[in-house]
Amino acid sequence: MRLLVTGGSGFMGSNAIHYLLRERPECQIVNLDKLTYAGNPENLRDIEKDPRYTFVQGDIAVEADVEKAFAHGPFDAILNYAAETHVDRSILDPSAFVMTDVIGTYRLLEAVRKYNVPRLVQISTDEVFGVAHEHPFREDDRFDPSSPYSASKAGADLLISAYVKTFGTPAIVTHSCNFYGPNQYPEKLIPLFITNLLEGKRVPVYGDGRQVREWIYTEDHCAAVLAILERGRLGAVYNIGTGDRLENIAVTKKLLALAGAGEGMIEHVTDRSAHDVRYEVDSTRLRTELGWAPTVAFDDGLTKTVSWYKEHRPWWEAIKSGDYLKYYEQQYGARHSS
Ligand code: DAU
Repeated sequence: MRLLVTGGSGFMGSNAIHYLLRERPECQIVNLDKLTYAGNPENLRDIEKDPRYTFVQGDIAVEADVEKAFAHGPFDAILNYAAETHVDRSILDPSAFVMTDVIGTYRLLEAVRKYNVPRLVQISTDEVFGVAHEHPFREDDRFDPSSPYSASKAGADLLISAYVKTFGTPAIVTHSCNFYGPNQYPEKLIPLFITNLLEGKRVPVYGDGRQVREWIYTEDHCAAVLAILERGRLGAVYNIGTGDRLENIAVTKKLLALAGAGEGMIEHVTDRSAHDVRYEVDSTRLRTELGWAPTVAFDDGLTKTVSWYKEHRPWWEAIKSGDYLKYYEQQYGARHSS
């Protein structure tokens, strides 16, 4: 199988590439990545010279860059991991989200048509559904996104749905709960809190911390995507979830315990604007149709993740200096002053 993985240098994309090369040793992978702040060549340093792997630097929203990647085709499938993903950044500046998440997906859809790619798997998010009020999100729930990020992903998903209907485009969309694990950029809750604690800094809990998220360890997500890639129904939508639903404050207390820190390290800061209070995902379709099930319990995944950050200080220390500081100051300066 020859695959185009977009956004392969980021957290989820790089985990997926490692997983695919390990689980399907015969596959060939071309990684098209723009190398934004979140794309880190270190994540794939170990396979840089692997003959099964090719890197193309480029932006999925730029037609010429997509063409550059297709010079390495034909492809049996595209896995679209390329996205701007951080809610707080989308509140500071939505523009990159519209460009990458909406226009970028449009460019890939057009490439699928032009080159007759047999399968496109779109990695999307449960956030497109907004807040889970009465029951876990189902695949056919109405979209009700709250942030420019989730609205951009919803726009891309709707575009795919329209291409499936209009052109018969062979695409599948996934809606996943929150990922965590090694190599995650330290702006998201879990890696930010772990690295802050390892630096002896307090952890900024938004508001009262009672918001609920459902969590999936990266390897379990990779396994779900592989099942969907190989056996998912074209035109279908699959939710990916574990049932591990926790309030942020509960996750925070687990992290404090793993880092050997006391509750005095918690700092309640100004809440996120339009903060979704609850996500939960109904993943029955994926489990019954494709036989997938998560294998990593949340406590085990969290323990492994904390160990990884303890053992890879140079990886995140390099990130947490430089440009990252500007973003952090903008975020937390604003939160403390209001
Ligand atoms: O649900 C899937 C989504 O999960 C993905 O599509 C997004 O790309 C990903 O960023 C994530 O969105 P969240 O907003 O849920 O993730 P984040 O790690 O930013 O925040 C998790 C929760 O923790 C959320 O309720 C906000 C809260 N939080 C976050 C940060 C960064 C804090 O209390 N303090 C923080 O400093």
